[in-house]
Amino acid sequence: MSPHASRPLFFRNATQLLTLAGPPVPRRGAALGELGIIRDGAVLTLGSKILRVAPTRELEAEAHRWRAQVIDCRGRLVMPGFVDCHTHLVFASSRVDDYEQRIHGRSYEEIAAAGGGIGLSARQLREATPQELLVQASRFLREFAAHGTTTVEVKSGYGLDVAGEMKILEVVRRLRRISPMELVPTLLAAHALPPEYKGRSKAYVSLMSRRLIPAVARKKLAEFVDCFCDRGAFSVPECRQVLGAGIRHGLIPRVHAEQLSRTGASRLAVELGAASADHLDHVTEADIRALARSDVVATLVPGANFHLGLGIYPPARRLIDAGAVVALATDFNPGTSPTLNMQFILSLACSALRMTPAEAVTAATINAAYSLRRVDRLGSLEPGKQADLVVMDVSDYREIPYYFGWNHCVVTVKRGRIISERRAEL
Ligand code: NIG
Ligand code: FE
Repeated sequence: MSPHASRPLFFRNATQLLTLAGPPVPRRGAALGELGIIRDGAVLTLGSKILRVAPTRELEAEAHRWRAQVIDCRGRLVMPGFVDCHTHLVFASSRVDDYEQRIHGRSYEEIAAAGGGIGLSARQLREATPQELLVQASRFLREFAAHGTTTVEVKSGYGLDVAGEMKILEVVRRLRRISPMELVPTLLAAHALPPEYKGRSKAYVSLMSRRLIPAVARKKLAEFVDCFCDRGAFSVPECRQVLGAGIRHGLIPRVHAEQLSRTGASRLAVELGAASADHLDHVTEADIRALARSDVVATLVPGANFHLGLGIYPPARRLIDAGAVVALATDFNPGTSPTLNMQFILSLACSALRMTPAEAVTAATINAAYSLRRVDRLGSLEPGKQADLVVMDVSDYREIPYYFGWNHCVVTVKRGRIISERRAEL
């Protein structure tokens, strides 16, 4: 170990240790319900990785030899850190006016057409300095960590022009240097048509494809490319063009699909071999079958349905039963889902989407890691994997969604270092 490496950590006496152990492949069907639980479990980390995972009594001597820092988890649970695979972390301000208007009965699309929505976030972002964006996003990231998340996908998308999008992705690059969290950048190249392009979406799509995508790829500012393929946003052919340009420049596609209406966006995701198709409120049975036959991760973001007060939720049960790879994410953003708490997303997944607590945990960890192309390193607690784990102040994993709206997380470890803790609780 280098002198700068963190001291080994020994988490002992976890009432339940959720390992999610298994081959580094996405979990489908019945496998979504298998958490690989070790009772009275322990984890020993070394440097940034996991050295051993076993019942506590089998690891005591080895932990002692390494002079590991001991964290006694008696009565608590240890599990992999959440992998939040869909967020719009970098924005300037809240959209509480939109929120109140919706409570009075106006729809998301009506508010967007009247000058709120993504367009409002874009105007707010233009006014904000990179430093202001950085400070706010850092504050949010500390909260993500405090709620048990260790990896966060971050989309751009409030720039709506080349300079604005680059500004967001440059902020993400700086955040990656200063935050202990793992950030996975996505260029959301087609989010909303800026007003100056009204009636000229072809020209905008072409600008994004020919100028923005090559520039972002050249500067290595993103790993993934995304688009909002929906009524009032971009059409399937337009998104095919944007995502195709991304693929040619080495970016892996993700798609906002079938959120407001059924457009065929999830089929486009399958056609292009996208990493994920997200939202999926309006998928058809045939779409579900196509997703189930593919490796595209059906990423469900029920926080958006909850916050918009839609009263409908994506068909998680039918997706799981058909054999699709299902993941969960917050979709943290100022318009549709201002929560960064994955524990609350688990509660929605169970109470509203009828996923079992075990399915929800798998969807929020290993399957989410798969959708970010990091399943070999993240999403489960196994020797050799990155030491990203959390201690939850519950003795049964089902209590995480059950006691909804709480924060059960007391310790968060990223790459073998404690990055957040509530000491008084330990
Ligand atoms: O995932 N659907 C498009 N994008 C976001 C909402 C963005 C916003 O309203 O600011 C979503 O729901
Ligand atoms: Fe989104």
